[in-house]
Amino acid sequence: MRFITTITITALALLSNLSIAKQKDDLTYANYEQVKVSHVYLDLDADFDNKALKGFADLSLNWLTGSTNTVILDTRDLIIERVLARKNDGQWIKAPYTLAKRDDVMGAKLTVKPSFQATTIRVYYQSTEKASGLQWLTPAQTAGKKLPYMFSQNQAIHARSWIPIQDTPSVRMTYSARIHTDESLLAVMSANNEPQTERDGDYYFEMPQAIPPYLIAIAVGDLEFKAMSDITGVYAESSVLDSAAAEFNDTQAMIDATEKLFGPYRWGRYDLLILPPSFPFGGMENPRLSFITPTVIAGDKSLVNLIAHELAHSWSGNLVTNESWRDLWLNEGFTSYVENRIMEEVFGRKRALMEQALDAQNLRELVKTMPANDTVLYVDLQGRDPDAAFSSVPYTKGQLFLIYLEKKLGRETFDSFIKAYFNQFAFESIGTSDFFSYLEENLLKKYPILVSKDEIKEWIFNEGLPSFTPAPTSPVFTIIDGQIKQLVASELAANELPTSDWTVHQWLHFINNLPHDLSLEKMTQLDQAFTLTTSTNKEIAHAWYLLALRSGYDAIFEELDDYLIEIGRRKLIVPLYKKLAETEQGKVWASKVYKTARPGYHPLAQGTIDAILK
Ligand code: BES
Ligand code: ZN
Repeated sequence: MRFITTITITALALLSNLSIAKQKDDLTYANYEQVKVSHVYLDLDADFDNKALKGFADLSLNWLTGSTNTVILDTRDLIIERVLARKNDGQWIKAPYTLAKRDDVMGAKLTVKPSFQATTIRVYYQSTEKASGLQWLTPAQTAGKKLPYMFSQNQAIHARSWIPIQDTPSVRMTYSARIHTDESLLAVMSANNEPQTERDGDYYFEMPQAIPPYLIAIAVGDLEFKAMSDITGVYAESSVLDSAAAEFNDTQAMIDATEKLFGPYRWGRYDLLILPPSFPFGGMENPRLSFITPTVIAGDKSLVNLIAHELAHSWSGNLVTNESWRDLWLNEGFTSYVENRIMEEVFGRKRALMEQALDAQNLRELVKTMPANDTVLYVDLQGRDPDAAFSSVPYTKGQLFLIYLEKKLGRETFDSFIKAYFNQFAFESIGTSDFFSYLEENLLKKYPILVSKDEIKEWIFNEGLPSFTPAPTSPVFTIIDGQIKQLVASELAANELPTSDWTVHQWLHFINNLPHDLSLEKMTQLDQAFTLTTSTNKEIAHAWYLLALRSGYDAIFEELDDYLIEIGRRKLIVPLYKKLAETEQGKVWASKVYKTARPGYHPLAQGTIDAILK
């Protein structure tokens, strides 16, 4: 009897831990359980004089209940001019609405209350200079210096700063758009861009596949197009077009590799848009048109895993989408895993392993310094700004989890599982619990001896890294570890290091693993031998500057000043500002640089750095 009770209790405990109750996304005000937006039509004027998108949005509605006529939308810093509602018979009627007080994280709730269930709501509005999801660049801030540039960055909850919308990844919608702007400029969107589009200031787009609103994207600038293959190409300002197309000309091979591993690419074309250096991310997986930082154009393809990453989102993220930002690891962990598999196919196992090892080491170090509750894959975001909780945990811990499963189950089994998972949930938004049930049904039940439920639970719900976390290493890195020891013990001089065939990854491992208190003499010798302070590789420069700040090597400051002013990619600049802010002197210097740099940064980067230097 006692025995049975114990079993029952254990089973119940297991069950209750495994099945996460479905929650409403609490980062949206939308009443999407009652009514869902199924299509958006945007008719917008990109007005550079006023730094505003102006016009209207038609939201087609799909009613799930008869009990209300109210539609609640998300907005942030929008000016709402008027709202119309369309009846079944096609008649448009003025609709009463209220715009609530602005919440810092969520924005302002827009409640529209027609006296009937509208088939479509039309909101006339304009964005403002405060739009957190838009950056407006003056001609001086562009590469060409002649014409302005603007772009959007919606993930996670910034769509609402330029579209009144149900801003949650659990709602999917198709969209179309008409964009008016100056005829010297080209507009592109995460939709059907036609490479041959005539530049006339009037552009029309369609995205016929249902996507969450964080994937609606726009950019307008002095853009040109260069094809890389039949279905891939690059949009960029003319001065970066050729170097970008050359750097990324393996994109087609990457698509081929992913299709072979995980099933068809389902989106038609795949183009890249190269943003100005102020783009706050490395890349953004806007469907059919990934947005890419120019800081990865290194000249040697050393940083093109970023393209593999954004492309991989065409399966993990855009096809199968996290239903809330708590489930971000479903997007980013799977994508980091697929990214690395693509890199292995296209560039070989040796490089893929080095990239795994670099990321895994960075994660181990990061986890030590983070609030423990943010190291959980299924992270608690209650009442928080998802941007503030952002870290590499969902990426690399998620990836290591999948590498662990791959190792336990064998590649063949695991690959067909992932492929089937993408098929099963194609064009759906799902949560961690859906993944869990699917895993249980399709793997755990079949291979109970290989992987236990408890281990899975530990990966998803526990803080830190499980003791059974894979530890990817690279033999070439092990050699470097030995050389670092010799260097530190003065058995080897800097200029005797055998670096002639080192790749960027080896350099990164080397710099990341030098002791933080390396003598100034040795820092100077390294710099003289390898001109690290003036490295044109933005990742190497970043790693070196961080080490220099840690070890008090001041010769970097002139270059660091330029670096921080030129680049607005958060991953590259935030750790440097943080490190500088640790000392009073550093903070004063950083604040001075930031005064010049800030106007060139994106609102998201401004927010982060403001908080660091305040
Ligand atoms: N989707 C992300 C960017 C993102 C994540 C924006 C969360 C806002 C909230 C994108 O795919 C990404 O992960 N970019 C990385 C690429 C890197 C891991 C190769 C980046 O920007 O550094
Ligand atoms: Zn990503």
